[in-house]
Amino acid sequence: MMIDIHNHMLPAVDDGAKNNEVALSMLKEAVNQGVEHLVLTPHLYEADIIKGTGDWKRKIEEGKRTVLELIDEHSLPVKVTVAAEVRYQEMLPIILEELEVLIGGKYLLLEFAFHSVPNNLERIIYEITRQGITPIIAHPERIKPWQREPQKLEELVNMGCPLQMDIGSFLGTLGPNTEKLANFLFDRDAVHLVGSDSHNLESRALYTKPGYDWLSDRYGVEYADLLLKTNPGKILNGEPVEVYPVNLEPARLTWKDKLLNLIKT
Ligand SMILES: [Fe+2]
Repeated sequence: MMIDIHNHMLPAVDDGAKNNEVALSMLKEAVNQGVEHLVLTPHLYEADIIKGTGDWKRKIEEGKRTVLELIDEHSLPVKVTVAAEVRYQEMLPIILEELEVLIGGKYLLLEFAFHSVPNNLERIIYEITRQGITPIIAHPERIKPWQREPQKLEELVNMGCPLQMDIGSFLGTLGPNTEKLANFLFDRDAVHLVGSDSHNLESRALYTKPGYDWLSDRYGVEYADLLLKTNPGKILNGEPVEVYPVNLEPARLTWKDKLLNLIKT
């Protein structure tokens, strides 16, 4: 069963599906591509809850009701779970206390800002895991500081955090630096699940089937199944996902490589 663990199809909540019509088209597209379960993960930023969590709760409830109605009306063979993609912020304790953001009662899809990552990251992750919650790091390959220094991700994986990659990252729709880190993470066996992170029908469309095919062609069906079926399935059920220690130290360049780089530039 193919599961999309990360997308923005919940209508009128974030920068994803802007209305019911777009949401319906996105849902249909997911079904066409063979997705049987969608975990809807709207962005949750500090600004969304600065005046309390009531507004967010109402928006989510309304969006969820709409999606369930659309699925029912159009007899779409897909299940949905509503969670959130939580941007790391000071108010995280309040979010965890007042909102239903966890997947499978245990996993938190946690996103960091694209241009800066907190210095005390290990401490932050430790504080979250201490509460019995496992953070899933959303699309690390897109975060600039990690593109420059991938070894900074190593400790997070070694603390047991699964890394969720966006399908567009390895298909090359999100830029060369992102694609480069995506390939590096595959090479080092540091990818635990992939998601569409689809926002709309154009620039950020759903590429789940092409993603599955790409993974099968390059690494075999078993690996494609692990990243799009098995591991997301375990997460949905709140079961542990195998996260092995990794080495993310970039390879040292030999004098020959350095010389070649020099010639190329
Ligand atoms: Fe996202």
